[in-house]
Amino acid sequence: MKIIKAKDYYDMSRKAANIISAQIIMKPNCVLGLATGSTPIGAYKQLVEWYNKGDLDFSEVTTVNLDEYKGLPREDPQSYYYFMNDNLFSKVNIDTSRTFLPDGMEADSETACHKYNAIIHSLGGVDLQLLGLGHNGHIGFNEPGIAFETETHCVTLSERTIKANMRFFLSEEHVPRQAYTMGIKTIMSAHKILVVVSGEDKAEILREAFFGPVTPQIPASILQLHPDVTVVADQQALSRCTDLEF
Ligand code: F6R
Repeated sequence: MKIIKAKDYYDMSRKAANIISAQIIMKPNCVLGLATGSTPIGAYKQLVEWYNKGDLDFSEVTTVNLDEYKGLPREDPQSYYYFMNDNLFSKVNIDTSRTFLPDGMEADSETACHKYNAIIHSLGGVDLQLLGLGHNGHIGFNEPGIAFETETHCVTLSERTIKANMRFFLSEEHVPRQAYTMGIKTIMSAHKILVVVSGEDKAEILREAFFGPVTPQIPASILQLHPDVTVVADQQALSRCTDLEF
């Protein structure tokens, strides 16, 4: 695991965007695994800026997102499809027929998950998977206690995640209770993984996840066993790791 120190959120975003853009330049028809949430927004912004300058071409890129709320249509401003469209897809020359997210409107969980797994397999796997880190160590919507060998599955969100995501909704009862998410096995099968972490509120979990024991209680800890993980974290997120060598 490689940890790259960034000065602040802006620096973290630029460094992460650099790694994503290197992937696109090295393999123009790559498969990118993407994440939503607050942390990657700056990296997406940077990628759009480089695209606008003519330095990046998304025309052959395929994307698969980590997760989607169950029951939200694509047009819902809180859906992850909407987020991706708003922050990236609508701003670059990506072919939207090659941008995949789990189908939140598929009511049958088994069908939704089966279809999404089939898409990921048909693409031959993910070249670079971008991840954020949840306060309880979740990645995607894989909450503490999740079995490491799962592929795409339907989850019931923990109270903590509902509360953390509430800021995007009118009120707590508007936050969907379930979501479809890539499983840990799916995430771990990506060739490369890039984790972005920012802010003091992530400092404790960053240390536990990447320097503590590997345990299903902290789903992100499994990443320690992946052969090619890069964590880009700002100083605040690394503030509980100052005694460690890396
Ligand atoms: C997003 C996702 C989540 C977030 C995590 C951190 O697609 O699957 O695991 O990456 O909740 O979110 P932020 O970046 O908002 O702190």
